[in-house]
Amino acid sequence: MSAEVYRTTRPGLLGAANVGETVQVAGWIQTRRDHGGIVFVDLRDSTGILQVVLDPEAASAPAAVLSGLRREYVISVTGAVAARGPEQVNPDLATGEIELVATELRVLSPSDPLPFQLDGRVDVDEALRLEYRYLDLRRPAMAANLQARSNAIRAMRRVLDGRGFLEVETPTLVASTPEGARDVLVPSRLRPGRFYALPQSPQLFKQLLMISGVDRYYQIARCYRDEDFRADRQIEFTQLDLEGAFWGQDEVLEVLEEVAVAVTRDLRGLELARPFPRLTWQEAMDRFGTDKPDIRFGMEIQDLSALFAATGFKAFAEVLAGGGTVRGINAGAQGLSRAGLDGLVERALALGAKGLVWMVVEEDGSLRSPVAKFLSDDEQAALGAALRVSPGDLLLVVADRFQVVAKVLGALRLDMGQPEGHDEIAFVMVTDFPMFEVGEDGSLTSMHHPFTSPEDVTEMAESPGTAASLAYDVVLNGAELGSGSVRIHNPEVQAKVFEVLGITEEDASRRFGWFMDALRYGTPPHAGFAYGIDRMVSILQDQPNIREVIPFPKTQTGADPLTGSPSRVEKEQLGELGIEIAPAVLAIWAEEESPT
Ligand code: AMO
Ligand code: AMP
Repeated sequence: MSAEVYRTTRPGLLGAANVGETVQVAGWIQTRRDHGGIVFVDLRDSTGILQVVLDPEAASAPAAVLSGLRREYVISVTGAVAARGPEQVNPDLATGEIELVATELRVLSPSDPLPFQLDGRVDVDEALRLEYRYLDLRRPAMAANLQARSNAIRAMRRVLDGRGFLEVETPTLVASTPEGARDVLVPSRLRPGRFYALPQSPQLFKQLLMISGVDRYYQIARCYRDEDFRADRQIEFTQLDLEGAFWGQDEVLEVLEEVAVAVTRDLRGLELARPFPRLTWQEAMDRFGTDKPDIRFGMEIQDLSALFAATGFKAFAEVLAGGGTVRGINAGAQGLSRAGLDGLVERALALGAKGLVWMVVEEDGSLRSPVAKFLSDDEQAALGAALRVSPGDLLLVVADRFQVVAKVLGALRLDMGQPEGHDEIAFVMVTDFPMFEVGEDGSLTSMHHPFTSPEDVTEMAESPGTAASLAYDVVLNGAELGSGSVRIHNPEVQAKVFEVLGITEEDASRRFGWFMDALRYGTPPHAGFAYGIDRMVSILQDQPNIREVIPFPKTQTGADPLTGSPSRVEKEQLGELGIEIAPAVLAIWAEEESPT
């Protein structure tokens, strides 16, 4: 028996040039309209949509079959490509000048009525979309996201393959890795009571590969982090992970730029100018109040401490006397009502400020503000000059510790200035991150991860709180796309970092002894980076949420409504693993099951 033929071409590939040809196409019924016996069908596949005319006289299918056709039925149609009359041309459709006049119809698969419509005209609850993700992915916008993701990965591979990188897979059942999130654990059956961790990233394996003599490594790597879900976070996500031997920061940043340029070109048809702007971490914090600055707009933070050095305004004077800082932004003409201004003050307080001074510049240049009476004329004039004011502008000033001022003004800047509905792409590289983050209690944690090289080992040991590292980030439109660093390749330095972090020698040797050993066998200097692919594609696709570019994502509560994961497993299966469910959990289960 000869194989069945379903199609000779694809709906979206046909055009005026094909008029007169006899073709066979297959796909899904997007819409059907019954015009008194003659049925018009929009036939869809991944190439596009084609109008098909099914006349029961001509299409060798009985009227009963034609009238039974429904949305999302899968059909195969043979017919002649015909030009539409000038009146019938549909300019909204790529194939709008033609239609297929069917001579033969086969129904390959019927479809149950859909749980939601696919034409994008109605807002569908996300839980329902995820439960029927296979239908959701039929929608052109979602299909475009899948395509973009594939295109992005292809562009990455093209760049890195072209530069002689070796693609290496690293294991996903590993020992715990220290990226700072909670591990996802997998119990071992052969060694009950022991657990694998899923990798938070391939960090240590890629460093081992450098020691193995791999010169340039990359991997499209799945990573797992059990952290709170957010719009830009999932429990599993994908990185473009890369590393190079005998590399320093400049070599890495150059490759990162090339990757970003190629992906942006392929996804947006946009040629980015190089080199990308670079800011040190301190500059980013000073000017934008954040280490992931959105540089699509100005509204930069200005340090006003000097001009208030001798101020009589107590709130500012006290902060300055205590070693704090006074900074402000010119938010431009916002035209806010008193209630709107009070709302800003509330927001600043919620962000941790002790207060927010707002001032509106009047037509005559004077300042309207509850605190204007406390500021001298000289101070007001200097403020106007520093913030380059025009009438109508709203000025926002905060006095506090640097961290608080940066956080509050950084957030207000985004609230007031973030452009909406624009399609600008603004990459920026942020370098010279601090080595450690200092907690309220003075404790130190790695700003990037503990394998990051300090800029200066002595400085790190002597004043860890302010020491700089060789870590860098790539930021796109105010989102952290990826991070990397020059690594420590000297075991003594690595031991020193663990020590500064308060990790005991015993602990370090138990958790990372194997890695410390590896460092002793001739480790080349090396550096690397990881891009978050989900974030990169979602931003370039203008999606508010990385779930839109992940084929089968989890919900905010870590569940997959389609397959029902995470799910309970049989007692026997747990027994083999030496695992028992705690009584407290069993009680919760019983409660969930009891009819209410
Ligand atoms: P880092 O932890 O900064 O670095 O991660 C790199 C990038 O991965 C993405 N990312 C995430 N995306 C979605 N969901 C998450 N939960 C999530 N967590 C991280 C972000 C982030 O910038 N091993 C180092 C890299 C290196 O030093 O080479 C690392 O993983 O886009
Ligand atoms: P107070 O002196 O606390 O009554 O505050 C007078 C005004 O200054 C109020 O509008 C406060 O919001 C504002 N303010 C107080 N402390 C600060 C601060 N640290 N930074 C900015 N504004 C402040």
